[in-house]
Amino acid sequence: MFKFDCQARCPETQARVGVFHTPHGIIETPRFMPVGTLANVKTVTPAQLATTGAQMILANTYHLHLQPGEEIIAAAGGLHRFMGWSGPILTDSGGFQVFSLSQMRAISDAGVLFKSPKDGQEIFMSPEIAMEIQGQLGADVIMAFDECPPYPATREQVQAATERTIRWLYRCHQAHYHRPNSPLSHPQALFGIIQGGVYLDLRRACAAEMVKLDLPGYAIGGVSVGEPPELIAGVVAATTPLLPEDKPRYLMGVGTYREMAQAIAAGIDLFDCVIPTRLARHGSALVQGERWNLKNARFKTDFTPLDETCTCYACQNFSRAYLSHLIRAQEVLGFTLLAIHNLTELIRFTQRIRTAILAGTFTSEFASWLKPQESA
Ligand code: GUN
Ligand code: ZN
Repeated sequence: MFKFDCQARCPETQARVGVFHTPHGIIETPRFMPVGTLANVKTVTPAQLATTGAQMILANTYHLHLQPGEEIIAAAGGLHRFMGWSGPILTDSGGFQVFSLSQMRAISDAGVLFKSPKDGQEIFMSPEIAMEIQGQLGADVIMAFDECPPYPATREQVQAATERTIRWLYRCHQAHYHRPNSPLSHPQALFGIIQGGVYLDLRRACAAEMVKLDLPGYAIGGVSVGEPPELIAGVVAATTPLLPEDKPRYLMGVGTYREMAQAIAAGIDLFDCVIPTRLARHGSALVQGERWNLKNARFKTDFTPLDETCTCYACQNFSRAYLSHLIRAQEVLGFTLLAIHNLTELIRFTQRIRTAILAGTFTSEFASWLKPQESA
């Protein structure tokens, strides 16, 4: 279980094609993973989600702990049954969200005390508690509890957060792999999260320390937190050479075309981002590398599909004019159709890269995405 088979490599970059095996199915990498924070991918049913090419999806420990609570999900038989998704699921640990979404009360090596934004109640999270909650939720892949330093932050601050994240990973590992009696019928893979901000030596030191645990997978966290996007590729390129070749690598919270293409070239396999579903709720579509606002007047009488080349349900059955009408009228179906399209589009982008790596055409076919963004 949790084997990662590397099937092909790009001769000119670090890009690779792989298959990651989980108890609920395989993930063909590189691949984008839709975000389902509160045990649902916003506005999309699991049946619709399956048509987008989604394989593994995300849910979040922090949000599900606040509501409905892990006891209810465990009583339902775990996340897969509770939300009706029989494919692979990954839960994020809550580390990131505790820092970004809540009012922090105190942080120490013991853990984090914070105020619930829901009802003001004080909640304590620690590596052990995050593992316990994720054990109850029952995802296939669980994430270590980490401290994600903000940007900008001094080197001293980032170093302290990185060192704490390493200490916390050891505690997560101990708690997870020595749990006395898990009620789950399937094993869970613990991924470590590499921190270090934009300090490449801290990134390298963190990766070198984490690989000693021989984990089933590694994530790079603490990117897309406000730093200039062109720094991300450098952070990834500094980190991946230290990671084992036979384990999946996941770049957290990244999901633009350019960032994904460049990270894949640096050896990343998995991505997640709220962009496709969030853009949909704002009436925007991702079409062949661009963002289109469906409220734009030019779509009012445009009876062609959103994207002629797209195989999604929205593009196969509806026109730009219809989508524009639904979005203008704030109809929920408009958001659903755009979410189906946007998810399909980003997953298809990573699938197209996968095919290109297999065909040996990655760097030529995706050259425009691989070069740094031209400044406007
Ligand atoms: N999601 C995006 N970035 C991060 C991170 O650094 N840590 C965690 N736990 N989740 C994330
Ligand atoms: Zn489409």
